[in-house]
Amino acid sequence: MAEELKLTATTKEEKYIEILPQIKALVETENDVVANLANVCAALKFSFDFFWVGFYLVKNNQLVLGPFQGPIACTRINFGKGVCGTAWQKKEIIIVDDVDDFPGHIACSSLSKSEIVLPIFDNQNNVIGVLDVDSDKLNSFDQTDAINLNKIINLVKF
Ligand code: SME
Repeated sequence: MAEELKLTATTKEEKYIEILPQIKALVETENDVVANLANVCAALKFSFDFFWVGFYLVKNNQLVLGPFQGPIACTRINFGKGVCGTAWQKKEIIIVDDVDDFPGHIACSSLSKSEIVLPIFDNQNNVIGVLDVDSDKLNSFDQTDAINLNKIINLVKF
């Protein structure tokens, strides 16, 4: 595996194009899920100006904090609660431009201002976890993030 990510791009779109094959190479040579999720978080945190990047994994009908990069975070989220629990319930990617406008948003940090949460599915369409990315700026996420973060999730074998 490469010792470090190579990143020369400056725009978000170009950064995703540049890091996708590198993340692919990183995760395809390792079959431990936690190791791969940890490296995905590190790669995303390194590449973008994200405040917090992490995975929550479904365990005993709750989302439990998994590998992440950023400040400490709440460890358990119930089905339908917060942005993460809502993405789980609706089986949809949720983009929140301003967390203050999302009823029930769970504020792990008051510095988090906008957020994207992507559900992760097994091959029977059950949600097995979510990827949560937070920004300390409003309106940070759009369809470019949704499409590319989804591609990144799909590189990992769960
Ligand atoms: N804001 C999330 C909780 C997780 S933290 O942001 C890391 C939510 O409302 O589900």
